[in-house]
Amino acid sequence: MSESAETAMLPAWDAVEGAERARELFATTFGGEAEGVWSAPGRVNIVGEHTDYNGGLALPIALPHRTYVAVARRSDRRLRLVSSAADGVAEVDLDAVGPVGTAGEVTGWPSYVAGVAWALEQEGLASGLPGLDVAVVSCVPTGSGLSSSAALSCSVAVAWDELAGLGLAGPADDPSDAGRADLVTACVRAENEIAGAPTGGMDQAAALRAREGDALLLDCRDGSVEHVPLDLAEAALELLVVDTRAEHSHAGGEYGQRRATCEAAAKVLGVPDLRTVAEAHVHSQDTLDHVLPRLADDEQRKRVRHVVTEIDRVEYVVARLRDSSRAPLHGATLENIAWALDASHNSLRDDYEVSCRELDLAVDAARGSWAHAARMTGGGFGGSAIALVDTRHLDEVTAAVAKAFADADLRAPAFLRAVAAAPAGRTA
Ligand code: GLA
Repeated sequence: MSESAETAMLPAWDAVEGAERARELFATTFGGEAEGVWSAPGRVNIVGEHTDYNGGLALPIALPHRTYVAVARRSDRRLRLVSSAADGVAEVDLDAVGPVGTAGEVTGWPSYVAGVAWALEQEGLASGLPGLDVAVVSCVPTGSGLSSSAALSCSVAVAWDELAGLGLAGPADDPSDAGRADLVTACVRAENEIAGAPTGGMDQAAALRAREGDALLLDCRDGSVEHVPLDLAEAALELLVVDTRAEHSHAGGEYGQRRATCEAAAKVLGVPDLRTVAEAHVHSQDTLDHVLPRLADDEQRKRVRHVVTEIDRVEYVVARLRDSSRAPLHGATLENIAWALDASHNSLRDDYEVSCRELDLAVDAARGSWAHAARMTGGGFGGSAIALVDTRHLDEVTAAVAKAFADADLRAPAFLRAVAAAPAGRTA
């Protein structure tokens, strides 16, 4: 493969292409026409990693890469599901769905769809939802730490919301998005309890509550959000995503272990969550030097240090982005943001220990080239990294990362351009 082919950007489909592909799969699989097409984005997190399940802060954006579902209601309570990424048609009886480990367990990707109906009903947000025929297509790379699973559950959630008249997903720019926050809660429960992935909620919030042109400052303690303008183009900057194509899986034990260690540490410290420590750290000078010695072991100390400093970094980056809404992102402001992103990666690598060889390689190669900063994004153990790059140096950075992977005999990475895109909603 030529270098330019290797470093080609993975394109995002536009709404027309996504809707056409979904409708076509629906028609060839089920016959007849779908009632509509709904879609939801993947996400990248700018900073604030492994903070969501600690009641902390995160700063994701929605990607232009989306999952599209063509959907029609059925007169019974069955689901028939087809995906361009899987063989065959899966069938699920909504009345039989139950949590992981019970007789109603649903395995594989259909659990992300069935789980949404189950959770909407458990939350009292819906009752007696209709069964659906659903055709799924997506340009969110799967298994890349870009939340393809949340894109699936959230696209189905907005479809059910409209088809069953729940009225939760108001317009994306509605200042009170309480209904969308309810959908987030349902999608998180679907993923935790039916799909068995102990994720923290950032991905679903990004897919349902982010806004085009803005980063989403998410307060995971009370679920409040602030939309922070992020105009990288104005500053001739790009947010480059490197999909390392190293396998990662959240249902795997490492993510759950990190979560458990944080919960155990909070218990030792006698606080409801590690956010509380971060607040003391910032506001009352109750420093880490005072808190860390009280913890049980070095593992807890490292994990807590990451979470507390990472929450600080989110506040720090957001403060600088707010400044940059008055002046373009350059000079000291850009340098400060870059410093925080680099520090985030180093902390995830050294203290949280969720990076891996491929992520470190992508980050080091991008930093060693022209990137202002680079860090892993998402849960880690594989998946994707991001780099903040001047537009004029984009090709050099992608080439440097591709070369580093080739020199290390690794599979060629894929690249995406991230711009802050729109949340889940009806597409056609
Ligand atoms: C995964 C999870 C999120 C979050 C990130 C780490 O993406 O799904 O809830 O915990 O990891 O920030």
